[in-house]
Parts: sequence; C-alpha cells; structure tokens
Amino acid sequence: MDKSERSENLVKSELLRACKLLYRQKLVYATAGNVSHRCGDSIFITATGTSLGYVTPDSLVRLDMDGNVLEGGRPSSEYRMHLAIYNKFPKIKAVVHTHPTAATTLACLQTPIKTTLLAEAELFLGEVACAPYADPGTAELAEKMIYYVHGSNACLLESHGLVTWGATMKEALYRTELGRLPERAHGERERLRADSHAQNRQHREEYLSGDHAHRVRYLAFRSGGDHRRRVGLRAGAGTAQGVVLLPEGLKVRGLVVEDLHDLLAVHHLLNIAVQ
Ligand code: 13P
Repeated sequence: MDKSERSENLVKSELLRACKLLYRQKLVYATAGNVSHRCGDSIFITATGTSLGYVTPDSLVRLDMDGNVLEGGRPSSEYRMHLAIYNKFPKIKAVVHTHPTAATTLACLQTPIKTTLLAEAELFLGEVACAPYADPGTAELAEKMIYYVHGSNACLLESHGLVTWGATMKEALYRTELGRLPERAHGERERLRADSHAQNRQHREEYLSGDHAHRVRYLAFRSGGDHRRRVGLRAGAGTAQGVVLLPEGLKVRGLVVEDLHDLLAVHHLLNIAVQ
C-alpha cells in the first residue's frame, strides 16, 4: 500500500467514525446531515440519502474541487456547500453539517447562537454566522452560506441546521458539539428565570395581600400605571428611610417610604413588574 493509499484509508476511516459519532450523539436524525473530509485535491463526502448511523465505505463519494464525481455514487446534495467552504478556506480539512435540536431551533427562530455565554464556546467556536433561508441542497444555499461566513468556524442555516468546519475532523466535530453548549446554557438560564418568575409572582401576591399593598397601589397610580420602566433605588445612608427613584418620563420622580424593608419591598415589586 503506497502513501497516498494509506492517507486515503485514514481519511475514510476518520470520516466513517465521525458520522457514527454524530448519529450516536443525536446530532442528526434519519438521513439528514452530511460530512466530508479533504484528501489532497479532492474530498470524500457522504452519499445523498445516507443515514450517518449506518455508513459503510460504500457510502462515500469522492469529488474533485469542482464537484465532479471521481469515485462512488451520488454525493450529498449539500456538496456545493462543503466545496464552497474548502475553496474559501484552504486550511480546512473537514466539514460537518448536522441538525442538532437546540441549534436548529435557534436557526428556525433566526436567533444567533450566543457563544459569548460560555468561555469555552467563545474560545473554540467563536462567532457563529447566520445564513438566511435557501432550500436545502441548492446552489443558492451554498452561495448564501459562504457569503455570510467571514471569520467564523460555523454557520447556522435558517430553518435548517448547523454547519461547522475545522483543520481536522476532530476540530469540526468539537465545534458541532460546542454549538449545543451555549444553547443548553441559554435554555437552562431561561428555565431558571421562569422558576424565579413563578417565585416572584408568589412574593408579589404575598406583598399585595399585606401591609405594603397600599404603597404599591399608590406608586402604580402616581406613576401613571406605567410599571414597565427600570426603577432606580437609593437608600438613605445609615437611616431607616429611602427613596424609590422613578426614571425620567414618569410623573412621580420620587417616593419616600418609611423603612428600609418597605423600600426594598417596593423596589422588588417594581422590578418584578418591569421584567
Ligand atoms: P443529503 O442526504 O443529500 O446529504 O441531504 C441531507 C441534508 O441534511 C440536506 O441538508
């Protein structure tokens, strides 16, 4: 076996291993998703309609850099997207297109992945581009995607999925995995927020049924019923008094309350109201 044959076999086995890993991790479903690896002046890519969980060496197609088939059957319909990435970034050796639930949901909502939420994601994934919708498997999708990609290592495809790339297959895979992390953290944060909203509602009901009710109603009345503004808080230093400062534009600029506990209660309630 000569050197080029050895490296070709290595590329193929890495590609097959990556496909199965993606399937096991539920980053792709059914026959969705496709993966490719560069091999000299050509690429190996999964055949169209392949389930990544069941790939075999026969599931791979070899293409030249213009998209002509050199070996195998019909390539993934997304071959243009893969080639656009290799042709734009010569150091890139692997491209992974998946449909991870969280990232795909964001892609459907046209919401970027906030990699800045997590240090690791920001460091290794960086900014994730967002490409507007084009039908899967079309030249238009490849053109739109590559147009929106500049310094990024990944791109969300609107109402479709995620594509990542790397100088090695591992790097491309890690980036796909990392694409899930900020979204999970975001989801978890939202869940916690929802919990604390529920708790806040309970507190509000408690406050409103107690001694503080008239103060809050007074404040709501004097502020023209507009609760939806941030409220500044200034406590009287060292005293049992304080002032709730209302932002500009509201009718009342300040309200003196009798003790710090009241002050915090009012502030707390207003904060709930503006969330
Ligand atoms: P292929 O089966 O042609 O690779 O297409 C799957 C897919 O995910 C399209 O975006």
